[in-house]
Amino acid sequence: MIKSLFLFALLAANPAVVSDPADNPGTPDCIIPKVVSYSESKGRLDLANGASYAIEGALSTDADVEVFGKYLEESQLALVKVNGPARKALVRFHIGPKELKGKPAGAYSLSVDAKGISVKAADVAGAFYAVQSLIQMRNSQDGTAIAACRIEDEPRYQYRGLMLDLVRHFESKDFVLRQIDMMALLKMNRLHLHLTDNEGWRIELDSAPEMVAEGAFGSSRFFNILRSNNPIGFCKAPEGYKTGTYYDDGAVCGGYYSKDDIREILDYAAARQIVVVPEIELPGHNKALLHVHPEFFCDGPHKVGDVVCPANEKVYDFFEKVIAEVIDMFPSEYIHVGGDEASKENWKLCSLCRKKIESEGLKDVLELQSYMIRRMDKYITSKGRRLIGWDEILEGGLSENATVMSWRGTGGGIDALSMGHDIVMSPNTYYYLDYGQDAPYKEPLAMRPFLPLKTVYDYDPEKEILESGKGRCDASSMHHLLGVQGNMWGEFVITEEHYEYMIYPRTYAIAETGWSPAGSKDYDDFRTRALAFNAWAMNNGYHPFDLAGEVGERAETKIELPRITKGAKVTVKIGGNEPQEEPLLADGFLAGWIYNDQGYWKRTPREEIIVEADLGESKDIHYIGAEFMDYRSKSYYLPEDTEFFVSEDGKEYVPVHVPRLCLERGRKSYGVFTVGSPVAVRARYVRLRFNTGSRKVSTGISELIVN
Ligand code: ACM
Ligand code: ZN
Repeated sequence: MIKSLFLFALLAANPAVVSDPADNPGTPDCIIPKVVSYSESKGRLDLANGASYAIEGALSTDADVEVFGKYLEESQLALVKVNGPARKALVRFHIGPKELKGKPAGAYSLSVDAKGISVKAADVAGAFYAVQSLIQMRNSQDGTAIAACRIEDEPRYQYRGLMLDLVRHFESKDFVLRQIDMMALLKMNRLHLHLTDNEGWRIELDSAPEMVAEGAFGSSRFFNILRSNNPIGFCKAPEGYKTGTYYDDGAVCGGYYSKDDIREILDYAAARQIVVVPEIELPGHNKALLHVHPEFFCDGPHKVGDVVCPANEKVYDFFEKVIAEVIDMFPSEYIHVGGDEASKENWKLCSLCRKKIESEGLKDVLELQSYMIRRMDKYITSKGRRLIGWDEILEGGLSENATVMSWRGTGGGIDALSMGHDIVMSPNTYYYLDYGQDAPYKEPLAMRPFLPLKTVYDYDPEKEILESGKGRCDASSMHHLLGVQGNMWGEFVITEEHYEYMIYPRTYAIAETGWSPAGSKDYDDFRTRALAFNAWAMNNGYHPFDLAGEVGERAETKIELPRITKGAKVTVKIGGNEPQEEPLLADGFLAGWIYNDQGYWKRTPREEIIVEADLGESKDIHYIGAEFMDYRSKSYYLPEDTEFFVSEDGKEYVPVHVPRLCLERGRKSYGVFTVGSPVAVRARYVRLRFNTGSRKVSTGISELIVN
């Protein structure tokens, strides 16, 4: 304190000390993702826009170097090619020097002194990442000065991804380009575009022009809002629609990318060392396709749902021609075919499916899904590319060459790696960016209520794989873990600003896990950098969640509230089952923002539930109540009715009047609600009886409150 007061007095007396930003040069300790190592030395360099650059010893193709040079000119540094010998340039790149031999793609070293900057890079990507470190250092202060320093850096994983769902909420081409800029700054290198789903088909293709003409627009009410409650109503593309923009005239909304839009996105990404991975979903998530091609439904009376018939050759003809064209457009090694959440109900009733199961010697409908994925795998492999799919592609047997993207937690990825398959980890439990990131009462409605930055940051994919001890899950197989990816789904997104709000700053954490060395995690240090980076982002047109105002986990989880139930015997009786002891339900610690299986939010999936506390002896009671969770998108509803009773002997119970909750049934929200009332009674037993209202839903109870 004394020290900072002294510093303040000094600065106030001598304003020149703070007015020259060059006195406060950017240093490597601000960079996200954290660099492998750095040291600072005396001195600094002014890296004003328009500094000169030179590239030597190019290992990559001339075309790559040319694209990189163009990027340097257009980048935030606006570097200009040196006029004269390379040694005269302020920023000198040496690509492919001997000392970086054997280093992974993207590795670089960087040294800054008062005379200039020397970058050594394993490849053009490494040179590009050195530039991103320079930009971040420079942006971290108001001026253009960078401290003299040396950085050694290389990526931990070669797949550092972000998925954008452009179906549930279509985003403009410019929005996508802006996220590519941010990904580049964060040294991320895979942009997975979710381009087809129930709500629309977002890519124009010569092989299927009807899909954007008839399957990219629909009722406005359908988009933006929790999808299950909104009917799908597709319509033709509005006349005069400008591709690559989001259209919404109040009645109709949607959009798609033209082939030119896609080419622009691909070129922009490639110049920023980002590969765009296209996803064409099959067999499920295909209402848009089935709207345009109802002949792809299974036969029989059940023309509902979102799953195509895997026994219909016309379905294969369609997907093969679409994927062939996608392969021609996208240079990505990986083609994503989805594979998630495909209901098999229609297949069980379809005569074609039944015949296919018989003729192919398949065991069941799970193997039928596997049959379809294997066919697509064969097709994609025959074109020199690789298939990647969500972890459901494991069901019914995993195709030989397939790579698995683990989303239902980490289990699918671990299982696939244990069998020797390549995997990308994007578990919903850590990396789903459509989940809320702070106290739900201050956040927009989200798919789940609480996945804060720290949870995202703390995830280490290798640790879980090694700890699983399954099959080939040992250190020698870690090369099969290609990397990590954050997934941003759009069902709850209202605007582009909202979309960005969900992505950042959590994507900074995913970028750091993808790049920085194992064992280098330090959340406090990361958070300090994330705050500074976020401030820069907000000043530069991005709309991240304001980390500075983070509330975090519910304070009540950390404070022990007074309870006369402390030490009491607390039981829960669900339906006709025997009562089970649940001491956590009256321990004075309220549950956190999200349901967890640790017994805090007790899920009660039957019609009638009785919670009872035996205080051990008769006591004066001044308050009786209970706390419940309302979390409708996960089928947790508030209780239909609640009744409280007390008893002296555990046999004769008398009701205690506590007003019931009275909330509108159709609300879509997350909330924590207390039912309770002051009372004046003396009793040994307290009983709460409530009803979930339906067998289909659950009620989440955090605490029986008795004081
Ligand atoms: C998914 O979230 N259904 C991949
Ligand atoms: Zn069928």
